[in-house]
Amino acid sequence: MTFLNPHFLTCFLYILIVLPLEFNVPSLGSASSSFQHKLSAELKETDQILSYNSSITTTHGHHGWIGPSGHRRIVVDVNGFGDFKSVQAAVDSVEVNNRMNVLIQINAGYYIEKVVVPTRKPYITFQGAGRDVTVIEWHDRASDRGPDGQQLRTYHTASVSVFANYFSARNISFKNTAPAPMPGMQGWQAVAFRISGDKAYFAGCGFYGAQDTLCDDAGRHYFKDCYIQGSIDFIFGNGRSMYKDCELHSIATEFGSIAAHGRKSPDEKTGFAFVNCRVTGSGPVYVGRAMGQYSRIVYSFTHFEDIVAHGGWDDWDHISNKNKTAFFGSYQCWGPGAAAVHGVSWARELEYEVAHPFLKKSFVNGRHWIAPSDA
Ligand SMILES: *[C@@H]1O[C@H](CO)[C@@H](O)[C@H](O)[C@H]1NC(C)=O
Ligand SMILES: *[C@@H]1O[C@H](CO)[C@@H](O)[C@H](O)[C@H]1NC(C)=O
Ligand SMILES: *[C@@H]1O[C@H](CO)[C@@H](O)[C@H](O)[C@H]1NC(C)=O
Repeated sequence: MTFLNPHFLTCFLYILIVLPLEFNVPSLGSASSSFQHKLSAELKETDQILSYNSSITTTHGHHGWIGPSGHRRIVVDVNGFGDFKSVQAAVDSVEVNNRMNVLIQINAGYYIEKVVVPTRKPYITFQGAGRDVTVIEWHDRASDRGPDGQQLRTYHTASVSVFANYFSARNISFKNTAPAPMPGMQGWQAVAFRISGDKAYFAGCGFYGAQDTLCDDAGRHYFKDCYIQGSIDFIFGNGRSMYKDCELHSIATEFGSIAAHGRKSPDEKTGFAFVNCRVTGSGPVYVGRAMGQYSRIVYSFTHFEDIVAHGGWDDWDHISNKNKTAFFGSYQCWGPGAAAVHGVSWARELEYEVAHPFLKKSFVNGRHWIAPSDA
């Protein structure tokens, strides 16, 4: 764990309040035409994307800093050679309002369980033995019923959900093993991982699913050298995130899309910045969709295989003029699919000055919480 410790420098206490509002990301349906005919009911849902409410409270005086001190290591081993056999049991053993750096070492194996890291357990790291050998997986879909008899809906399907700040994960995979939906099927959103906490760091991780694999919900996040697989909107949410040196792997059959970003107003600093990534797999895929009115997605120095759909980008519904308010662009991308990323006039090849904020870890204020060697 090599986070810089910025906490001595700042006296901010970030309070994240995750509102229970939920929505389902519309299905792409059987072909591109379904992109063009969004139901108004679906629209109404997306208007309510309010899954995140943060307010910053400055603490005055000398007792303001609340940060980690000390280290604790917990070993999880599915075969019983550790402190716990399940990941959730290890998380449950961490004190509420934890103040230590807690390293949860998860030995090689398949952990078939749903895991939640609650808001009041910050500074937890999941350390796998390698993303091919340590896997946490579950199989919920949006239309499955929860304990209350209601449909789970997209955000509650995540195999692993993290609400705490300063979470990190290394060399581990997260899967949702629900089968990929056939085109047009409803209710098959199946999230592998949901990050709703602030200042989360991921290195060498795998995220496996089909529709809605990675819920990059809210907060500042950095993904380094990760592998993210899916078919429809497989990175989605309103996070403020940088994806560096990652592989974005499409398993779309007839049509798919990589990223759907939910920025709702021009005042939000959220967006998805992909830097030096590789887009691989099957297509055709849209590289970005305007889930929010002010959606922001930028690809830089990224290699695209020849799988990009005609037009490259999708305005989500064609009736709310998101093509006038979304900020979609690319900067010095390459590969056989790169030309298609310029497929619509409102997704531009950016000037260096415009692209610059999306190229550096400062996009997520990383200078204060990501060590140079981790960026
Ligand atoms: C966010 O929380 C603050 C403080 O609790 C509240 O005043 C504000 O109305 C909330 N905003 C939303 C969008 O819920
Ligand atoms: C993660 O895996 C990579 C590649 O196998 C390895 O080089 C690295 O040391 C591992 N990191 C940790 C923290 O185990
Ligand atoms: C934006 O979308 C509207 C509605 O589909 C369409 O009429 C218009 O031509 C689009 N503008 C551009 C620049 O693509």
